Amino acid sequence: MKSDTAMLSLRGGADLPTPGAQSATTGWLPGVTSICYGGDYNPEQWPEEVWEQDVALMSEAGVNLVSIGIFAWGLLEPREGEFDFVWLDRLFALLHSAGIRIDLGTPTASPPAWFFHSYPDARVVTREGTVLGFGSRGMASPSSADYRRLSTRIARELARRYGRHPALAMWHVHNEYGAPVSECYSAASSAAFRTWLRARYGTLDVLNAAWGTAFWGQTYGSWEHISAPSATPSVINPTQRLDFSRYTSDALLACFVAERDAIRAESPGIPVTTNFMAGACPSVDLWRWAREVDIVSNDHYLTAADRRGHVGLAMAADLTRSVAGGRPWILMEHSTSGVNWQPRNVAKRAGEMRRNALSHLGRGADAIMFFQWRASRSGAEKFHSAMVPHAGTTSRIWTEVRELGAELGQLAEVLGSTVTADVAVLWDWESFWAQDQEWRPSEDLSHRERVAAFYDRLWRDGLTVDFAHPEADLSAYRLVVAPAAYLVTARAAENLRRYVEGGGTLVVSYFAGIVDENDAVHDGGFGAPLREVLGLTVEEFLPLRDGEQVHLDLPGMVGDVWTDDIVLHGAQVVARYVDGPAAGQPAITRNGLGAGSAWYVSTRLDVDGLAVLLGSAYQDAGLEPSRLPAELEVVRRHGEHADYVVAVNHGDDAAVLLQAGVDLRTGRERPEHEVPAGAPSCSAPRAPRRPRLRRRPRTRRSPGRAGSSR
Ligand code: GAL
Repeated sequence: MKSDTAMLSLRGGADLPTPGAQSATTGWLPGVTSICYGGDYNPEQWPEEVWEQDVALMSEAGVNLVSIGIFAWGLLEPREGEFDFVWLDRLFALLHSAGIRIDLGTPTASPPAWFFHSYPDARVVTREGTVLGFGSRGMASPSSADYRRLSTRIARELARRYGRHPALAMWHVHNEYGAPVSECYSAASSAAFRTWLRARYGTLDVLNAAWGTAFWGQTYGSWEHISAPSATPSVINPTQRLDFSRYTSDALLACFVAERDAIRAESPGIPVTTNFMAGACPSVDLWRWAREVDIVSNDHYLTAADRRGHVGLAMAADLTRSVAGGRPWILMEHSTSGVNWQPRNVAKRAGEMRRNALSHLGRGADAIMFFQWRASRSGAEKFHSAMVPHAGTTSRIWTEVRELGAELGQLAEVLGSTVTADVAVLWDWESFWAQDQEWRPSEDLSHRERVAAFYDRLWRDGLTVDFAHPEADLSAYRLVVAPAAYLVTARAAENLRRYVEGGGTLVVSYFAGIVDENDAVHDGGFGAPLREVLGLTVEEFLPLRDGEQVHLDLPGMVGDVWTDDIVLHGAQVVARYVDGPAAGQPAITRNGLGAGSAWYVSTRLDVDGLAVLLGSAYQDAGLEPSRLPAELEVVRRHGEHADYVVAVNHGDDAAVLLQAGVDLRTGRERPEHEVPAGAPSCSAPRAPRRPRLRRRPRTRRSPGRAGSSR
């Protein structure tokens, strides 16, 4: 069979092991029984005759949900306290008449000119003291009482007017909290930070001890003397900075909660979300945020410079699903083609948008949405792609948008099915905030790079990954990987010990277990809290010079960036350094503890080196790499009555899925399914856990072959 998609459903496949399984969705959009499809819709930029065309085109494309009003504060409240909902009433009526459901935005990511004129103190102040002005978009200071009051009021007014409208499916509070700016260093921020610190520490003595203020004579004798960590002559107190990151995430969250609660009081039963940027916005701790939203939603944009950006996409999608606790989530924004804000905004080629969309879907998204419906003629985003591009409805993009809508329309039965994973990668925003500060042992230490490298290896090995907080219950996972666990609390260390003792396999990469929650080096030295689980501590860091490489005594294994002077406390040496500052010393170790094992790697391995390391850890964990053809992505979703496997071929060679199953697009049962080069597919194996694949002879992909509809 040759098709450019194969979405298969396995009936009677309930014998599959489901570690980490989450219950099916509780609380999806009321009345929505199919995959949601649509995008941000900003009709206020167009005359109303265009609205009629828009709605007709939406119906043609299978759009069933649009996000509106996200940046419309200035139109909805043209003067303080004066509201104009007439145009929005008409828009609601029009969309409702076409059966298109509404995700109503609160416009608080873009306060109007009058707001900043009346309340200049609400403007964001940067760390260097620059006051950011009006004329763009962006958050006011999250610490401003005036912003809090007026943003809550507009949310409440909207909820009173539309909270019970039959077309309303969901609330979209604000837009991407934390972007484009998150921290604010105004006087109001310092005051609110002090209140936050009092709640955290109670007394100045406790704060002084936690911040280690005896160092450099920073001891505080009055709360009033503490401020936001503005620019200083030398490096700022790192614990003050870490606490300010925590404060900022909490302050932004308080803004969300205030709007959400105002909405809930007027709009019972309608879920409230805000669009996250999992993985891309470092300033909000989504483990905390996800508890406060009714449904998790996420925005994702490919990094155009990265030819394997689909792996970054998969990572963002897995992180989103993980913060959602495994429940289905909403892809609130992605792009039909190029964006407008990267250095080189590479356009998506034929079929790429569909591959991206189905990768998100395979990893748990039950809604596929875009920024934005119709390309803007004016303003800063006029060169951003859209569902209706400037080229109109004769364009390739529009054809693909319609085709994707039709395809998603056939996948309704996938709704609510969930993804399970055997592997967890530890992810902790607080640890990243601490690690990313100045004056660390090497500027080459990058938590982001290490997490992405380990993830890439797991992706190539065909293993589905969840992300997990280090203090979360890990018992459902066969393998836990800690690529960047700089800050490890005593609780997290105990959690990891218990996990391994209970039979788990743990892999820890260097610069781990160094500091506690106050960014203070653990009593007992580097890695002290992990000593029992890893069977070692680190006596001294031995970072490498720029470009310097070290060789391990395993064939072809090379490291760079980092080495350690390790003291063994029971771990076995798996590999040693042949050269470099740690020559003759352990490079990779394994420690058996209880029923499990813990691995430590003390240098930066590339994706091939990680294959060797993880290959051994897989054996401990009873895992097998899938041995799929390169660049073939296969993910499984478990439904109540059937399983679904989404296969997306990012490579140049077609592959055949040797799986019987029903193609959801055609409804036909097939013994095997070809996944053409550059195309998505979805299949479900009957008995074996992973689909077996047969390689097709290599053929050159001609431009446009991959799903081109022209
Ligand atoms: C997002 C934002 C959208 C739009 C988009 C462009 O971050 O939420 O409003 O600006 O980027 O890629």
